[in-house]
Amino acid sequence: MRVLSGIQPSGSLHLGNYFGMMKKMIEFQESSELFCFIANYHAMTSVTDGKKLARGTLEAAANFLALGMDPEKSVFWVQSDLPEVQELAWILSNFTPMGLLERCHSYKDKTAQGIKPNHGLFAYPVLMTADILLFQSERVPVGQDQKQHLEVARDLAVKFNNEYGEVFTLPEPVIDEDVAVVPGTDGRKMSKSYGNTVDLFQDEKSLRKQIMGIVTDSTPVEAPKDPEGCNVFKLCRLFLAPEALASLKARYVEGGMGYGEAKQLLFEAVRDHFAPYRQMREALLCDTDALRATLAKGAEKARWAARKTLGKVRKKTGIAY
Ligand code: ADP
Ligand code: TRP
Repeated sequence: MRVLSGIQPSGSLHLGNYFGMMKKMIEFQESSELFCFIANYHAMTSVTDGKKLARGTLEAAANFLALGMDPEKSVFWVQSDLPEVQELAWILSNFTPMGLLERCHSYKDKTAQGIKPNHGLFAYPVLMTADILLFQSERVPVGQDQKQHLEVARDLAVKFNNEYGEVFTLPEPVIDEDVAVVPGTDGRKMSKSYGNTVDLFQDEKSLRKQIMGIVTDSTPVEAPKDPEGCNVFKLCRLFLAPEALASLKARYVEGGMGYGEAKQLLFEAVRDHFAPYRQMREALLCDTDALRATLAKGAEKARWAARKTLGKVRKKTGIAY
């Protein structure tokens, strides 16, 4: 089974990214043919500082490698090292109805936030489709927010196949219900753009600040509390072993425990969980030449698969003459 996903190198990494996508990808390496990349072309829709994008790309690669991505077992590369994806995106553009893109929530949300729409933002799902179809991906692990983009990818694959015969595999999203939408510190979906994240790789002081800032209700310390409705408990669920979670739940229901105590428990769990990865990440970022070499090797492996599909597409469409 071929599994593919990508992550944009735009900003720091948060628990939503980790549980919604990265953790699953790392697990898939054991059972699948895994393709994983840093979507730096996509990040251009929000990052306009070149130095920041270049640094962010290396950091995103170090994040994934530190968390367990094994470049020997998987194909791991940077999107822009394979410009083939741009050629496919152009070809697919000719199968993309404007209405399909106009209906995309993520485009509508961004423009509603006041971001001035440009063609890159509008065509984002077409490039994402090219990422997926170029590698004949069968499964694509993502968070719930990317589901509609996967529908676009399937739509475009069907349209192309209907015109030229079976060229593309139809991809399916992999969205686990329990981590489809990891809540942020204000209870909305955790997202960089809402400023409500808990970040994986930051110093203790900032981590504590983010966790202590989680919004809770005003139930007094002595009173019983509803664990299921509590943002702190929802995040604890991602870290605590079943027995520890059950005992925390009991303490909520009994009353007598303040939210501060639950936050402290969560803070320690997050800090301790990621401590070894944090060290590994720092070591990787100390040798950026080695990191670039790993990524170049990954791009070489990915190119082979990409050219195979693109060769077929060029032939069918008459671009190869
Ligand atoms: P952000 O919303 O912070 O900009 P990205 O768009 O960079 O996050 O998301 C990268 C990956 O992480 C995607 O697969 C996305 O679906 C997933 N993801 C992001 N936020 C969450 C979340 N709160 N819950 C589950 N998955 C998420
Ligand atoms: N749009 C995805 C995100 O914001 C990143 C991405 C780009 C992606 N190309 C992809 C994810 C292909 C899965 C498959 O998170």
